[in-house]
Amino acid sequence: MVAERGQNGERLVILTGAGMSADSGVPTFRAADGLWEGHRVEDIATPEAFVRDPALVHAFYDARRAYLDAVAPNAGHLALARLEREWPGDFLLVTQNVDDLHERAGSTRLIHMHGELKRGWCLACDDRFAWSGTMGEGALCPSCATCDEVRPDIVWFGEMPYQMDRIDEALRGCDLFVSIGTSGAVYPAAGFVQTARYVGAHCLELNLDPSQGSIFFDETRLGRASELVPAWVEKLLA
Ligand code: OAD
Repeated sequence: MVAERGQNGERLVILTGAGMSADSGVPTFRAADGLWEGHRVEDIATPEAFVRDPALVHAFYDARRAYLDAVAPNAGHLALARLEREWPGDFLLVTQNVDDLHERAGSTRLIHMHGELKRGWCLACDDRFAWSGTMGEGALCPSCATCDEVRPDIVWFGEMPYQMDRIDEALRGCDLFVSIGTSGAVYPAAGFVQTARYVGAHCLELNLDPSQGSIFFDETRLGRASELVPAWVEKLLA
């Protein structure tokens, strides 16, 4: 039980990535050839790409937003929502995913560190708001009514992820850090395990393949998130 829970067993931080939603049918970022209609994702998810070709960037995110209607949370998302409800200590779920599957499963103590597909950000008035449907040409800001200045409220390469102070504080105080379905290729999320290790937390990785930071974890369990996560949660709450 100590190995499952960490030293004191109370304060838990979980990080999820694209592999968490893969069993729901949401494509991961670095699977297959890593291309979208011939473009590298790294060439679309940048502020420079948005200035150069806003229609292309909107088309990419509009397609992913529309796709959300066709997918549903899997058993892994549901297990994490149950863990949040039943866990007796501090709990924080940090996701790199921009889909809404964690909240649809019932998670509430959740940070979308890379933003959300279903939110927009007006570059004219700086307001952020819920968004559904397409955001391409003709998008009107619901706050200031400016046209074509709304961008997806997504953290692009070169931009600062959201709520890093809160995440860092939770990591520095955690007993158990669990990373699920992420390749460990993108910082700062890829470095969370090193902060958790530094403060003596037990670090567990649940992933299909060993991540790039696998050596920093005390334990790696390989398999699908929709199977590994419910099994781990069941044992943790037993
Ligand atoms: P990646 O696509 O880089 O990695 C997905 C990881 O999930 C890989 O290590 C796979 O082995 C694993 N995986 C795949 N299917 C799985 C399954 N069914 N169960 C468990 N694991 C599975 O995605 P992320 O690590 O999330 O950032 O990528 C991090 C960030 O890079 C993203 O948030 C995005 C991207 O560019 C931004 O857009 C800013």
